[in-house]
Amino acid sequence: MCGIVGYIGNRSAQNILLTGLKRLEYRGYDSSGMALILSSKNKISLRKAPGKIRALEAILEKKPLDGVVGIAHTRWATHGAPTQANAHPHYDCHQEIAVVHNGIIENYALLREELQKEGHSFVSQTDTEVIVHLIERFLENSSLEEAVRRTLGRLEGSFAIGVIASKEPDKLIGARLGSPLIVGVGKDENFIASDVPAILDSTKDIIFLEERQMVVLGRDGCRITDIQGNPVAQKVSRISWDITQAEKQGYKHFMLKEINEQPRIIEQLINARIHKDAGTIGFEEQHIPETRLKEISSIAIVACGTAYHAGIVGKYIIENVCGIPVAVDVSSEFRYRDLLIDKGTLVIAISQSGETADTLAGIRQAREHGSPILAICNVLGSTLTRESDGVIYTHAGPEIGVASTKAYTAQLTALYLFAFYLAQIRGLRPAAEVKKGIALLRNIPQLIAEVLKHQDDIADVAHHHTHFGSFLFLGRNINFPTALEGALKLKEISYIPAEGYAAGEMKHGPIALIDEYRAVVCIAPQSRVYDKMISNIQEIHSRKGKIIAIATEGDDKITDLVQDVIYIPAVEELFSPLITVIPLQLLAYHISVMRGCDVDQPRNLAKSVTVE
Ligand code: AGP
Repeated sequence: MCGIVGYIGNRSAQNILLTGLKRLEYRGYDSSGMALILSSKNKISLRKAPGKIRALEAILEKKPLDGVVGIAHTRWATHGAPTQANAHPHYDCHQEIAVVHNGIIENYALLREELQKEGHSFVSQTDTEVIVHLIERFLENSSLEEAVRRTLGRLEGSFAIGVIASKEPDKLIGARLGSPLIVGVGKDENFIASDVPAILDSTKDIIFLEERQMVVLGRDGCRITDIQGNPVAQKVSRISWDITQAEKQGYKHFMLKEINEQPRIIEQLINARIHKDAGTIGFEEQHIPETRLKEISSIAIVACGTAYHAGIVGKYIIENVCGIPVAVDVSSEFRYRDLLIDKGTLVIAISQSGETADTLAGIRQAREHGSPILAICNVLGSTLTRESDGVIYTHAGPEIGVASTKAYTAQLTALYLFAFYLAQIRGLRPAAEVKKGIALLRNIPQLIAEVLKHQDDIADVAHHHTHFGSFLFLGRNINFPTALEGALKLKEISYIPAEGYAAGEMKHGPIALIDEYRAVVCIAPQSRVYDKMISNIQEIHSRKGKIIAIATEGDDKITDLVQDVIYIPAVEELFSPLITVIPLQLLAYHISVMRGCDVDQPRNLAKSVTVE
């Protein structure tokens, strides 16, 4: 996944584009580049560099670019190593056109061969380069807009692109099919970008391009069409959050800031959904009719990574509150399975970014089975939200850290609210029980804040365990997915092998791993399975495993059996995943920092996986 920014206006484009790239670094950061139409002469000039954006910045300090129209790109390599030659933007043969691209051109090999036969010379191993040479071919006998449109007609796969050409210096063209692209509407200036933070310094007025749409930007306006050239209506959305929310606000890393934002975000999410007077639940952007929801006989949840773990918690929640059977699948499996779903199956797609390729493919499969689709998503106007019948926005604000934290607990909160909403509209629970559930949910932000008061103690526990070569995370029942999530958090930002397991499965294999060199995190709050967790802990203790227990305040029975205890406040078992995950997020964070890893931009990862 990559980041694209484009600018056309009367201000110097270089620093506008550079700032935009920095705000998109979470999307990919193995190389970057910029191309401008030079004000001095009607010529395109570009700079690019492997490595992080600061490498490009250093080049621009020595050799700045002076122009008011330009495109820029930060890359997460899919075809071709992160080298100077493979960094975007890419030129045509005469350096009169420049293109940036996010996504994958699946038929690029065929197109490359066709273009090479026509005499086009390629300088990179990227799929992207075929785009600029196709535009070059078509531009010989058509306008830039028409040349781009004809090029789009030849491409297969998923992409968002930005294009400039010295022949038409007063145009900036963007298009999307499968990868996000937005338009920023300014005063005598306009922008394109992969995501809102890139241009929020300059404008809060955003147009979210739909699938298979193209935009032609001038200084004084923009024209949006489908890729056949038919004009489409332009809906300008006003972004409510400001760029400081996308900044670190004094925290060392975005991830730590986002962990600490959770109480406020959950509180806001709950308050926004509960009607003050009636105390009932409503979702303003959930457009699946209640009549339709009343017909649902089963639910299928589809998601990836952390969102998938939220989905498993969602299974326990909805089956407990509503008594409706729930199946949970990782999107990459769901999309290729023989799906036994139909119009009676509500498909819930959970995604922070709303751009995850496998999850998008999953709902497109579900659509073919007639299932209504509900998105639980954090990004306004993202592809998933546009292709779903109903949306529950998690309103967690921009989550910049690649390791998802606040989005996860916001997804869980949305699932609790939706379960109570379903119970409310279908009369599955007495109103008093729904009200009690909401009241218990309202306590959660304050309980999370309690855990966050002990961050230093948790950092100390992390210190004792930074040197372990591998971790096992064990949980039961509704905290089994918490174990999966804790393992994912640790492995993705500290690179330590970590496995999450259902504790009851330990004797079926993992117990062979236990010795004094193994760290085992046991999630053992007061619950119906507490005694079973204690049995597991005793089995680990007797094999000298080093145990970190997540336990309920006041539980002194556990202390004799474990190395370290991280206490959490007492909480109803059903809501415990919102609390038990917080120490695991902090444990992963502090171990990663102590190991000198790049917490916010861990190696090989990107914030949203928009390719298969
Ligand atoms: C979580 O910390 C990871 N960054 C990753 O597993 C992520 O949850 C997954 O890629 C799904 O992303 P999405 O929620 O944007 O669809």
